[in-house]
Amino acid sequence: MSGIEKQLAKNQRNQVQNVAVLGATGSIGQSTLDVLSHLPDRFRVALLSCHQRLDRFQEQCDRFRPKRAIVTGPRNTEVDAWLSGTTGLSGTVGSSETVRGVGAERLIEAIVSDEIDIVVAAIVGCAGLESSLAAASAGKRLGLANKESLVVAGELLITAARSSGAELLPIDSEHSAIFQSIQSGQCKSEVQRIILTASGGPLRKWPVRDLENATVEDALAHPTWNMGRKITVDSATMMNKALEVIEAKWLFDLAPEQITVVIHPQSTIHSMVEFCDGSVIAQLSPPDMRLPIQYALTYPDRVPSPANKIDWREPHQMEWYPVDPERYPALELGFEVARRGGTTGAVLNGANEAAVELFLNRKIRLTEIAKICRSVLDHHDYSPSPTLDELMRLDRWSREEVFRWINIPC
Ligand SMILES: NC(=O)c1ccc[n+]([C@@H]2O[C@H](COP(=O)([O-])OP(=O)(O)OC[C@H]3O[C@@H](n4cnc5c(N)ncnc54)[C@H](OP(=O)(O)O)[C@@H]3O)[C@@H](O)[C@H]2O)c1
Repeated sequence: MSGIEKQLAKNQRNQVQNVAVLGATGSIGQSTLDVLSHLPDRFRVALLSCHQRLDRFQEQCDRFRPKRAIVTGPRNTEVDAWLSGTTGLSGTVGSSETVRGVGAERLIEAIVSDEIDIVVAAIVGCAGLESSLAAASAGKRLGLANKESLVVAGELLITAARSSGAELLPIDSEHSAIFQSIQSGQCKSEVQRIILTASGGPLRKWPVRDLENATVEDALAHPTWNMGRKITVDSATMMNKALEVIEAKWLFDLAPEQITVVIHPQSTIHSMVEFCDGSVIAQLSPPDMRLPIQYALTYPDRVPSPANKIDWREPHQMEWYPVDPERYPALELGFEVARRGGTTGAVLNGANEAAVELFLNRKIRLTEIAKICRSVLDHHDYSPSPTLDELMRLDRWSREEVFRWINIPC
């Protein structure tokens, strides 16, 4: 029985699905819990994970009473106290129901167990790869927000999902839009191209020569989306769209030439599919991640959602523009990785994660991020079909290179 057949069978039996929310304390994690809180007849919060924001995690555990709660961050006295129950969850009804655990290994064991039907992968960065791969290998429905999993190891993740029968459902709003729009066609050969929309980020109207002076606060002031810090910086550089080009290639099995990126400042059209007859099918909604998250959970069903709706009584402008490569040099890196494959995704992603961290710590300029990534990508030892171990080694290597590039000891 395929993943979707299992899901349909459970829906028909009105069986409640057990959901794991990985990275529950983040922006996507919190939106996922909001969606789940509106659908108690369909879903149960069975597993939550966080890395280190224990206060927020404790509140979530108290509210949702998952069967398991796992902290993956560094072990310290606060985590030890939480684990032993001397702080956190104490004195609540939830405390006796929730089994607490610490460490990535415990998380993987819980994900692959029969207790879990659906995994929402909302950890940020390459740190989410191992859990995404575990869910895909175990045949779960995987709602994938963690695009970095596909960027670093797209081939391995897709192969794991195919051989286990796991369903890979996009949560990224652009890819959810493509997934929804593509259902207008009958087969892949009807798809001419996909058009990924990009807001252009907070610096879209800045003179290009001023971009090197953008502060952390400037880069984090996103005009339409409220997201975690890393993806918000990626939006300012357009590295986010570069990663999404790679993500789209893997999810929809497309050639890079079939992917076009346009700037759409209103973030209302989440992406489009152009079919061979020239028809373009788009998915529209206000920028609110609860809609694509819910669709990944309930697919193929559509049910009422807490997400904001378009007010059709109000005038609304929709524009799109081509991307200026001088302003957004990071975008080309995504197309290059989509063309070359192999080790390039792990290297680009590792270099970008390290460079974004340096920018957020005010050690480098925003405009240096793409330059550093270009340099690290050009200097790596390319291999066309790497193993997971090789990808992980190159992920570490690319981060070290970034620190070496700017002469900071690792
Ligand atoms: N936010 C959006 O609207 C949006 C849209 C599309 C796609 N995405 C994708 O969704 C993912 C999450 O983004 P976000 O904006 O929700 O990020 P975020 O707000 O920064 O949250 C990240 C989550 O990951 C956890 N985490 C951080 N480092 C970890 C590690 N080393 N190991 C395990 N867990 C770790 C965090 O735990 P603590 O809080 O305990 O540190 C937190 O729960 C990213 O891949 C992003 O590209 C996000």
